[in-house]
Amino acid sequence: MSRVAVFGAGYVGLVTGACFADLGHDVVIRDVLPERIEALRGGAVPIYEPGLEELLARNAERLTYTLEVAVAVRDADFLYVAVGTPPTYSGDADLSAIWTVVDELQGLERRAVVVMKSTVPVGTGAKVRARLDERGLGHIGYASNPEFTAEGTAVRDFQQPDRIVIGAFEPVDADAVADLHAGIDGPIVRCDVASAEMIKLAANAALMTRISFINEIANVCEATGADVVRVAEGVGLDRRIGPSFLRAGIGYGGSCFPKDSLALKQLAANSGYHFQLLNAVIEVNELQKRRVIGKLNRHLGTLRGKTVALLGLAFKPNTDDTREAPSLVLAGRLVAEGADVRAWDPVADGRSILPQATICATPLEALRGADAAVLVTEWAELADLDWAAAASSMRNALLVDGRNMLDPTELRAAGFTYEGIGRAAGSGSAGGSV
Ligand SMILES: NC(=O)c1ccc[n+]([C@@H]2O[C@H](COP(=O)([O-])OP(=O)(O)OC[C@H]3O[C@@H](n4cnc5c(N)ncnc54)[C@H](O)[C@@H]3O)[C@@H](O)[C@H]2O)c1
Repeated sequence: MSRVAVFGAGYVGLVTGACFADLGHDVVIRDVLPERIEALRGGAVPIYEPGLEELLARNAERLTYTLEVAVAVRDADFLYVAVGTPPTYSGDADLSAIWTVVDELQGLERRAVVVMKSTVPVGTGAKVRARLDERGLGHIGYASNPEFTAEGTAVRDFQQPDRIVIGAFEPVDADAVADLHAGIDGPIVRCDVASAEMIKLAANAALMTRISFINEIANVCEATGADVVRVAEGVGLDRRIGPSFLRAGIGYGGSCFPKDSLALKQLAANSGYHFQLLNAVIEVNELQKRRVIGKLNRHLGTLRGKTVALLGLAFKPNTDDTREAPSLVLAGRLVAEGADVRAWDPVADGRSILPQATICATPLEALRGADAAVLVTEWAELADLDWAAAASSMRNALLVDGRNMLDPTELRAAGFTYEGIGRAAGSGSAGGSV
């Protein structure tokens, strides 16, 4: 069994650490935030990720948490880097946290492998390799092992991956990282470091492209009387296309897609290439988030003085992550239009991200007296809501279903004026899942 140091106790670092501990490895998770480390030591998990708390608790004897680099690296065979790589003003990835970690390894004598889990531009591994060499750390190995887990299903995704990608400069390091995953069933893709870095960016770009594609089809459906839910079903049954990520809605968000698309766009531009398709994907997504305002205007006229309830704030269900969530853009636009915003989410902390909104404890509380509701995040709670009671409690029972989650016929029967995304008036049943 190996000893694994994980730098970063965020969504990726905690899942990675917990899953390696579950495989029997000794894991030390290091972060720079004292409150995060304190919470973890006390058995509290600072993020919401289904199954993670139980996994950390079950493997507690093989998991330690520290603020100290020296404690983390002591006897470590692997130094996993899972720190954030947010966008800079220019759209390039901000790699400052990664450089900090690399510099913190100064003086390391024991042979270990630095493994990059953070999503980084192509060429980062080569730069890290050069920096390690400059600092007298030529004996430290380097591998890229990008992360493909999705928030909300991250534990399952890690334990049952579609693939494990390992890029390394030295075969011995690739072998070591592959061995570390013994017990996890999934194809291993071995390649050079630059290709491993590109696989991550390209996979995200492909998923985003499908989302913007179906959203544009939805917009054309709206203009022509077709129903995008049926269209996506019919298209997705084509084996060459497949059904996933063909669900029309109000656009993608989260901590990965928006920043990774910008980073790939800038990476291409910095290399002298204008990535036209990706630019269009990004622009379609930005416009998609704003289309809800047009729908509300069509029904309500001006939004000044109107009350709009946002159902869901997280960028998708089963996570508390609101980074780049469509709800933020929507709330900002609604406030700018003079509307009063009421909002509900079962786990995301609305008060800290939307100080201008009234945060409610239940969907029904958010809907009471409202002139319109927007379903922003397809939380399971909303499928079971008493929509007839909701309609009668509203001043005006208008629902914009931003995820095509609900059955239009049922919602209309419950008293709502229902608008989905790309759904012709009077069209059928609820949308499938991605
Ligand atoms: N969130 C996801 O689902 C996901 C999926 C795939 C890839 N990724 C990528 O993984 C990386 C991490 O993402 P995340 O969502 O876990 O980020 P996060 O913001 O949740 O966590 C990052 C953590 O790193 C800590 N940190 C900063 N500097 C540090 C240092 N020097 N030493 C130790 N810890 C330090 C931060 O305090 C924070 O707790 C990013 O590059 C992201 O693009 C994320």
